[in-house]
Amino acid sequence: MKIQTIISSLAIIISVTSAHAQDADAGRLVFKKCAACHQIGDGAKNGAGPVLTGVIGRQAGSYEGFRYSKYMVAAGEAGHVWDEDSIFEYISNPTKYLRKILDDPRAKAKMRFKLKSEEDRRNVIAYLATFQTTMGKAPEAMEQMTALPSTDTPGRVCVTNGTAEEHLFIVETENTRINEMLGAGMQLCADSDQGGKISVFESPDDQEGCTRIMAPNKSDTLVRYMDFDRCFWGTHIE
Ligand code: HEC
Repeated sequence: MKIQTIISSLAIIISVTSAHAQDADAGRLVFKKCAACHQIGDGAKNGAGPVLTGVIGRQAGSYEGFRYSKYMVAAGEAGHVWDEDSIFEYISNPTKYLRKILDDPRAKAKMRFKLKSEEDRRNVIAYLATFQTTMGKAPEAMEQMTALPSTDTPGRVCVTNGTAEEHLFIVETENTRINEMLGAGMQLCADSDQGGKISVFESPDDQEGCTRIMAPNKSDTLVRYMDFDRCFWGTHIE
């Protein structure tokens, strides 16, 4: 009976945890459509479209060496920075999107491709997000890391808030599930021989957070909070 409870609670843990991984996995297949024009990841080169590594958080029309349309360059110069929501809208209808943000009815997109399905768009963006950690803000996060303690916690799974803001943390193990708002530098631990799962949400009202599966006797530190499972974690960076 006890063992069954453990197994079923682990099954829940695993199914919850992999929801995001599945999005990104499904997105990998969707990306095959983008790959006709775009490359992403190590060694990616510009093709018919610009490299998409690190595109989330990047100024529109700014990847080096790519010849963008004047409209995309104008969008970037006007301060347009890509995030999940704007990419979601852009790829469903690039021309419509540029016309809207530039307030110019003659604007025309160089990207001749539309992805209608909302689910496909969400998944492909989850896939793009998996290429974020090597770009963007990682070096700054790494600097912060050197000040953080090492990560062995015998008999326990722990998470430390290494950011300056308060966030909601959850630790789930075979024994328990605890959640707590943690301020800067605070730690939350649960007893465990088997490891478990840690999650963080920007605030208690948020649906989208970040989750990590933890090996036994380990702890991890949140270095920077980003939604859609794009957080920077201590062990990620090492
Ligand atoms: C037929 C070729 C083609 C396909 C297929 C395509 N794109 Fe593009 N994409 C482009 C081109 C060309 C640009 C540059 C647009 C411009 O300069 O106006 C672009 C630009 C972008 C940008 C803005 C990049 C930047 O640096 O500002 C994003 C984001 C993007 N595409 C995502 C996608 C995604 C995601 C897919 C697949 C769902 C996709 N594209 C499919 C050709 C394509």
